[in-house]
Amino acid sequence: MINIPKGTKDALPSEIRKWQFIEACAKETAGQYGFREIRTPVFEHTELFSRGVGDTTDVVQKEMYTFLDKGGRSVTLRPEGTAGVARAFIENGLQGGVMPFKTFYLISAFRYERPQAGRLREFHQFGAELYGAAGPEADAEAIAFADRFLQKIGVGERVSLHINSIGCPTCRAAYQEALRDYFRPHLAEMCPDCRSRFDKNPMRMIDCKEEGCKKYTLGAPRMLDYLCADCRAHFEALKTLLNGAGIVYDVDPSIVRGLDYYSRTVFEFTSDALGAQSTVLGGGRYDTLLAQLGAKPTPAVGFAAGIERLIMLLDALGVPVAEKKPDCYLLGMDAASRGKAFLLAEELRSAGLSCETDLLERSVKAQFKYADKLGARFVVVIGESELSEGAAEVKDMERSSSARVRFDALAQYIKGGN
Ligand code: HAM
Repeated sequence: MINIPKGTKDALPSEIRKWQFIEACAKETAGQYGFREIRTPVFEHTELFSRGVGDTTDVVQKEMYTFLDKGGRSVTLRPEGTAGVARAFIENGLQGGVMPFKTFYLISAFRYERPQAGRLREFHQFGAELYGAAGPEADAEAIAFADRFLQKIGVGERVSLHINSIGCPTCRAAYQEALRDYFRPHLAEMCPDCRSRFDKNPMRMIDCKEEGCKKYTLGAPRMLDYLCADCRAHFEALKTLLNGAGIVYDVDPSIVRGLDYYSRTVFEFTSDALGAQSTVLGGGRYDTLLAQLGAKPTPAVGFAAGIERLIMLLDALGVPVAEKKPDCYLLGMDAASRGKAFLLAEELRSAGLSCETDLLERSVKAQFKYADKLGARFVVVIGESELSEGAAEVKDMERSSSARVRFDALAQYIKGGN
């Protein structure tokens, strides 16, 4: 027996409705905001992520599925979607197209993390990216889109939105210096990761999960106190827009996000109904990434939600997701009737209905039981007399009634629901 790799999961037919429901809500909401789908490769050149996501991040330092292909090139299974979309945008010359550029994706992503509830090595994301708009309205639209999506799937009441600003490269430089001054006396007692981040990216230290480091990170200076006038005005304007739209949030200065490309606005939706991995959706503005990857300077903002975490949340909250039921079940009482049931089933499918019929030579009783399990509203019964009459006995399982319906009128009858 070969088992599934650690940190991966099967999505079985019995639970696929939840996936399809979330994906349908994602697509529907994306449509409302004018975001069209993009599909990019599962693997990219490793350099895209080391340059894009940032080489001081956990994702790049520890979690990437990187390997040499048979041609000796270093490739990496995407750990997230943003960098690939940026590459596609630049490579396909979309900078010259209509702005803003708005796109969304439903993808699998890969991170070599320690698996636990809500943390997988292969996971799935619904993400959206918006390029070419520098103003706070774009941040507000991204957040409103994320919020509306979460409302649509029915978890809106149990998630909370946290926002922060991590400034721009200019004001962050002064902040990084303040952080270094603050951490310097404690550096010897901090973990090797923090020590290595001290020079390159001290803001990453705030995110450290090591117990030994937390006692220092908690009292660290806050970026909000170092914002330049432009970044502050941007953040204030965003809050005004969110207030106006009735989107509830709190300002959480501890949010720095785990990826390096962010500037100004960062945000996360978390839920107390999940365990340690409580962030269901995260995103923010990243105005320097596109230029860093070779585009002309292009402001950008986006987010991604973890589908497995959303499913955990649907389950935890008991949000009902209806199974798809067949319109009818065709029950053949003997061999000849089963043959007719097969033909009629094909006719009904051609008429656009969904139906099933017996494939296991089950008894009449067992077929009724099976039809009940499927939840078919109508059971079309065919036996010897029905065959000779050219009409079936149609049982409406919802109303506990039945009617004789000519074979050639079945589709219309079932479509009419009576
Ligand atoms: P992220 O915060 O790394 O951001 O991931 C977004 C979401 O993906 C998380 O909030 C979480 O729900 C889910 N997720 C991340 N890692 C795992 C994992 N190992 N197992 C299960 N779920 C996971 C990004 O990926 C950015 N690209 C989002 C973004 C788009 N920012 C701007 N545009």
